[in-house]
This record gives sequence, C-alpha cells and structure tokens, in this order.
Amino acid sequence: MESILQKWDGEEVIVRFDRPTGAWIFIAIHSTRLGPAAGGTRMKSYPDPKTAILDALNLARGMTYKFAVINFPYGGGKAVIDVPHNLEPQMRENLLRRYGALVHQLGGLFETGPDVGTSSIDMDIVSETGSPYVFCRTPEKGGAGDSGPITAWGVFCGMQAVCEYLFGDASLKDKRILVQGAGSVGRALIQLLKEAGAEILFSDVDPERIRHFGDDPDLQFVSADAVYDTACDIFSPCALGAILNRKTIPRLRCQAVAGAANNQLAEPNDAEKLRTANILYAPDYVISIGGAMGITGIESMGWSPEKAYQEVRTVADTLKQIFHMAANERITTEDAARRIAESRLSGVNGEP
Ligand code: PHE
Repeated sequence: MESILQKWDGEEVIVRFDRPTGAWIFIAIHSTRLGPAAGGTRMKSYPDPKTAILDALNLARGMTYKFAVINFPYGGGKAVIDVPHNLEPQMRENLLRRYGALVHQLGGLFETGPDVGTSSIDMDIVSETGSPYVFCRTPEKGGAGDSGPITAWGVFCGMQAVCEYLFGDASLKDKRILVQGAGSVGRALIQLLKEAGAEILFSDVDPERIRHFGDDPDLQFVSADAVYDTACDIFSPCALGAILNRKTIPRLRCQAVAGAANNQLAEPNDAEKLRTANILYAPDYVISIGGAMGITGIESMGWSPEKAYQEVRTVADTLKQIFHMAANERITTEDAARRIAESRLSGVNGEP
C-alpha cells in the first residue's frame, strides 16, 4: 500500500472503513490545479482493498487529464467504494448516506457524480447528506439526471471525427461499429448510431441486457469472447477498463478504437502497440468527456441542455487536433493528448 501511494503523482487520498457494512471508501484527489476535484463514485466488489485503491488512484488521474485537455475549471478526483458481495438495498442506501456525509465534510475539495455501479437515484441519496457537492441527481430532485446520454453524445461526435480523419467523411452511415457494453452510455450510443444508419454490433455479459437488445433486429450480438476477433470499422469499449492489452491488441480487426470506458489501456505502452498496428485510438479521457463536461456545465455553470450538447460537440475538434498532432510528430494519440493536458496543467498554454 505504501509504495502504491508513494509512486502516485496525486495530492491525497481519503480513506474510510465503513464498519456497519465492511465497505472501504477511497476518495482520491489527484489534482486541484485547475479547480475543485470532480469525478464519479464507482461502487463494486474488488478482489481486495489494494486493487480498489489502485483503481481510485488511476481513475482520479484520468479525471485530471479529462478536464485539463479541454481546459475546463475542474481538477481530477474519483471515489471508489469497495463493497461486500450481496449488500442488502437498505444497507447500501445507508452506506451512500454516510459516504455523502464524508463528501460534505470535505467542504468542496471533491465533487462527485455517478460512475460504474452508481446511478442518478443513488446520487439523490448521496446528496441528502452530501449536498451541494453531488452532480447528476434526478430531475425530480433538481439535478440534470443520468450522465449516460450526454456522454454517449460525446462519443458519437468523437466517432464522426474518427471517420472524417480516416475516410474523409464524418458520416457514420453503413459504418460497422462494435459497442462493448450496453450500460447507461452504451445503450444511448446504440440509439444514436441507429439514427445515423450505422451497422451495429453489440456485446454484453449481462443476461438481461442481452435479452433486451438481442430481440432488436437492427443489432447483431457478439459474444464476449468473440469481441476482439470481430471485424469492424470502429471498436467502441463502453464497459470496464484495461481491455486494450498485450493479449487483445494483436487480435483486433478494427481501424479505430473510440469508446467511453475509463482507462482502456492496460499499460502505457499499449498506445504504441495500437499505433504500430495502424489502429487509430481516440484517447479515452478525451472522448468520454461528455458526461463530466455537460453535467457540470448544466449544474454549476448555468448552461442550458442545448448549450451543453453544443459544447460537448467540440470534443470532435479536440480529437482531430490530437490525431493530426500525433501523425505529424509520429507519436501516439495518447501522448499527443497528454501533451495538451500537461501544457494546460503547467499553465503554459491557457489559464490555469
Ligand atoms: N462517470 C463520470 C466520468 O467519469 C463521472 C462524472 C459525471 C463526474 C458527472 C462529474 C460529473 O466522467
């Protein structure tokens, strides 16, 4: 544990053991350089607390880069709640309330929204004690609701940028797109792709979602183990991280990877593997900015939903800039994005 923290380049970690449930809460504050640290609350069962804390540290760093690359006045943080299996609903709710109180105690150092394992309804509960530091409450409770649809919108615009760059035409019509994960982002993305006339393949491991989408004649189901071997124009990971790794990259039969999952690369060197395989990678923290950007814009900067969708659209320009920079300098798109983010974090190229 000590060496993990020593190696991390962030500011601090708040640790709480929740005795009534046996859950571990880790809030990682990676950077407050550009503003208060914001990031989702991920809730799931990890093999051990060490894995949970590592996830929090890496995800918090991702949030810093996410906001920095678009020059947005927020810093990066993330909360991970490592819960025991089969936590009863009432116990879970009370845990969320105690977690909200902890967020409130931090007095604005950290602001949060939903992430894997939490929803807008959960944010309503967290905000009972955590207000005003909680984003994405349901509209009934005065929030902007689920961040999935606007995140999907950003990914969709990012895919258009990919097509424009690769094929000289931004249209997704008849493009073959494989969406991995039909959760809150994947589901909304599938809808947008349908409207755009794309050929859609999807994969999921949840039997209920498979049943739901399996009946849709416009979609082709791909089993979880066939995902990496299936030919497509764009592979769109919208589930969990680390799916681009030593084992999967050589199998990929796509021209580009563009999806919303956080921390898609298992190791930094995987970006180079994608580049040499001639696969265009849209850096995850850039293309997945829609939720964090759109919702914080609406809830804390007074944007209308229309304005939020317009602003999120600019992710396409940012990606195009990154693709060109990477090609010109013969570096990975990940390195190009990092350069832009780091120049903002050091205050060279924009207001800190
Ligand atoms: N899951 C979102 C993300 O990773 C979390 C988020 C939503 C953060 C809304 C802030 C506001 O970007």
